This record gives sequence, structure tokens and C-alpha cells, in this order.
Amino acid sequence: MTDSWKECMDHCIVVTREAGKMVREALKCDISVMLKSSPVDLVTETDQKVEALIISSIKQKFPNHSFIGEESVAAGAPSILTDNPTWIIDPIDGTTNFVHRFPFVAVSIGFAVNKEIEFGIVYSCIEDKLYSARKGKGAFCNGVQIRVSGQKDITKSLLLTELGYKKDSEHFQTMMSNMQRILTIPTHGIRCVGSAAINMCLVASGAVDAYYQIGIHCWDMAGGAIIVTEAGGVIVDIDGRPFDLMSRRLITASSKALADRIAVEIQPFPCGRDDTEN
Ligand code: IPD
Ligand code: CA
Repeated sequence: MTDSWKECMDHCIVVTREAGKMVREALKCDISVMLKSSPVDLVTETDQKVEALIISSIKQKFPNHSFIGEESVAAGAPSILTDNPTWIIDPIDGTTNFVHRFPFVAVSIGFAVNKEIEFGIVYSCIEDKLYSARKGKGAFCNGVQIRVSGQKDITKSLLLTELGYKKDSEHFQTMMSNMQRILTIPTHGIRCVGSAAINMCLVASGAVDAYYQIGIHCWDMAGGAIIVTEAGGVIVDIDGRPFDLMSRRLITASSKALADRIAVEIQPFPCGRDDTEN
């Protein structure tokens, strides 16, 4: 990482903390909810304000950089990853949690150059846990180094996934049968936290052994992906092939053996890509 990326990461930590404070303040007030692509795709004024704060602060310091932000994309901005330094932003990961005041809500930012993630910051703002990682330098939570569990055996593993509305009933069936196959191996269980970014940090810190999901977005994954790999974990596509940030699917695990074992059980359903019109 060049010195200039270090300057970017330092600024990212400052702006992420500021954003997290804004989220915490908003939780003290009434929250009015709007809908995006479906009746369960929620957005609030806070999502939009937090993203505007983050982007304007970064633009002032780094005017030539690019951005992919969840709420900017929802408003029509492109979601194409180029070689230019790019900030991939989820202002509130866990918007449904935020709306219900279920206390797992994160600000997540990944920074990519030449389509490779250089650093990631995930701030679980109600827990006040700031996870950070930069390429080749390890992963940290509030400054303390974290490591994955290293678990290889799926029968001794605790897993995370997310359960969500699926318009297509076949997709719903596939999501449920994937869970059934995994639970009946058997494993120690499956949990759902409601924030992809926090899920990835829980793998990175060894609290769970793996997390998989189909249908999430690059802004949900960009911050957490490097936190998991720098903590010694792996991140792959759900078919076990190399991870693709724009593919909307992932398995992340504490070992390659565990990721491969989960990949055997997971059937895909189509969810499109972030970098094409769906
Ligand atoms: C959501 C969360 C959730 C996952 C959804 C995401 P958002 O992000 O990460 O855990 O299941 O697929 O869309 O919309 O709250 O930023
Ligand atoms: Ca979000």
C-alpha cells in the first residue's frame, strides 16, 4: 500500500466514526421508513444523509476518486467497478435492524484500486466496535488484532446466513433447502444477524466459523471481505470458485476446507450482478 492509501484509510476511519455517531443520534428520534425495490427493501432519511456526509467528506480530500454507494446507486448512479481508486460505501448495513432498533447496524466502507480491495472499515456503531484491515497488515477490532477460528470441520461449526423475502417461490425453496442441507449434516447451527458486514466481522473474530449468502451487494461485502482474509479466513463464490465482488454471492469461512464443504451443499439461484442492468 502506498502512503497515499494510508492517508485514505486514516480519513476513512475518521469519517466512519462520524457516520456512526450520526446513526446513533438518529436512533434517539422517530424513524420514518421509505421503500425501494420491494416492500421489504427499506431506506430511511438517515441512510441517505449518512451516505451524503461520507461522500462529501471523502470528495473534499480525494476529488479524483470514484464512488459506489448504495443510496447513490438507488438514485440512479452507476455501479461499475473500474481501476480508479473507488470507495464502496454502505452507509447503514442493516437498515431493517436500524428501523427496528435491533442492535446490529454498521457503516461499511471498502476501498479498491485496480479492482482489488486495499482496506476495509466496518463500524458496528451500536456495539461501538470498529473493525479495520488493510492488505498485508492484519485485521483489528478496536485496535486489537483478530483471527478466525480456523475450524475445518463443518460438524463442529456455527454458521451465519440471512433469511429474506424472495419474490420467486423457487428461489425461496432453494434458500430453505440450502439451510436444511447444512443443518442436517449436522452442524452446531445457523444464526442470522441482519447485517452482512457484521456477519463477516463475526467470522473474522472467530465468533462463528462461516457465513454464506446469495443476493447481497458489493457495498454489503466490500468492507468486510478484506477484514476476513486479513484475519486468516477465506472468501469464495458460492460454487467454491474465486470471489467476485460484483457477483452478489459469497461464502466466507475460517478455513478453505470449510468453505469448500459448504460450497458442496449450496445450490444457486439467479440474482444478477451489481455491474449489469438487472
Ligand atoms: C442488507 C443486510 C442483510 C442482508 C441483505 C442486505 P442493507 O443490507 O446486509 O444482512 O441479508 O441482503 O441487503 O440493505 O441493510 O444495507
Ligand atoms: Ca444499506
